[in-house]
Amino acid sequence: MSDTGAPREDARPLLVYEYVGGDPFFVALVEHFYEGVERDAVMRPMYPVDLTGSKARLAGFLIQYWGGPQTYSEQRGHPRLRMRHNPFVIGAAEAAAWYHHMEAALGAMNADDVVRPVFLEYFARAAEAMINVAP
Ligand code: HEM
Repeated sequence: MSDTGAPREDARPLLVYEYVGGDPFFVALVEHFYEGVERDAVMRPMYPVDLTGSKARLAGFLIQYWGGPQTYSEQRGHPRLRMRHNPFVIGAAEAAAWYHHMEAALGAMNADDVVRPVFLEYFARAAEAMINVAP
């Protein structure tokens, strides 16, 4: 066993999913996210009245994306997120609102300085990629 701090050759990198503590982190993150969505006059009407399924789908997707169980795809198939968002008109305002609620949700989770920027960079990029109307 080396004590030099160098990576061990038999060690695999820790998954983000593991680093944050697994399913409970993503379930709680999504709860916070939808608390924001519920109070947002622009976002709320886009979602179903009952948000139970929406929460499960978003949490399941994020769990899968960050290295956890692939349950989302077992239940929903390939994510094809852009295609699945086609029914909704997503411009810069909607993408900014989505990102804002996710940033607030991360704040509520007290994500540490290691993982917060990793998530924020991803969420910014993903929200931008979902825009499907020209300005
Ligand atoms: C940019 C602004 C966005 C808006 C306005 C938006 C809005 C929506 C709406 C209205 C739904 C349907 C709700 C439901 O599932 O019942 C949905 C589904 C979903 N969204 Fe978004 N979304 C946005 C960005 C994103 C991003 C960036 C991600 C991923 C990082 C994401 C992940 C998902 C997932 C996984 C689903 C469920 C897909 C399925 O399996 O049917 N969304 N979104």
